[in-house]
Amino acid sequence: MSNDGVNAGRRRFLVAATSVVGAAGAVGAATPFVGSWFPSARAKAAGAPVKVNVSKIEAGQQMVAEWRGQPVFIVRRTEEILANLTKIEGSMADPESAASVQPEYVDKKTRSIKPELLVLVGLCTHLGCSPSFRPEVAPADLGADWVGGYFCPCHGSRYDLAGRVYKAQPAPLNLPVPPYSYETDDIIVVGVDQEKA
Ligand code: FES
Repeated sequence: MSNDGVNAGRRRFLVAATSVVGAAGAVGAATPFVGSWFPSARAKAAGAPVKVNVSKIEAGQQMVAEWRGQPVFIVRRTEEILANLTKIEGSMADPESAASVQPEYVDKKTRSIKPELLVLVGLCTHLGCSPSFRPEVAPADLGADWVGGYFCPCHGSRYDLAGRVYKAQPAPLNLPVPPYSYETDDIIVVGVDQEKA
C-alpha cells in the first residue's frame, strides 16, 4: 500500500518533469540560427555532425555555422552568381578542383550537391585565416572585375563564390568542402556524407 503511494508520487513527478522539458524545447525551436544547432557544445568538440537549418538564408547571403571548431560558410547562390562561376573560370588556379579538397559527390565546378547552396570550410588554404565574405560586384577596394567572392584579410588571397582560388594568390588551393548531406530541403547535416544520410 505504501509502495503504491510512492510510485504514484513518482509518476506525478515524472509527468511534471516531462512537461517542463517540453516547454523548454518549444522556446528553443523559436530561436533562429544559433538555436538550430542541435548538438551540445561537448558533442561538437568531439567532432559530432552538426545540423543546420538553412531555410532563413536569403538569396546572395551567407550564414556561418561551426563544425569541429571550424567556421562553415553556407551561401544561397543566385542564378547570376552561378552564371558568373562559368564566366571567370579562366582566372581560377584550379577551376575543376582537381587538386582541392571536397567529397566526391559534389560537383567539381559549383562545388556543391545542389547548385544553389554552397557549403565550405571557412579557412584559407594559405595559413588558415578566415576569409571575408564579399558578395558585392566591383567594390572600390577589390576592383572592377570583382563579381563577388571571398577575400582573405591576412595576405590577400581571393576566392570566388564556389570557394575556388584565383590564379597567383598566396593560397594554393580552393577552400575545402566538408562532408555534408541533406536531411530535408531545409536541414543540412555537416559531417555526414550524402550517401550515408
Ligand atoms: S592566410 Fe589567407 S592569404 Fe594567407
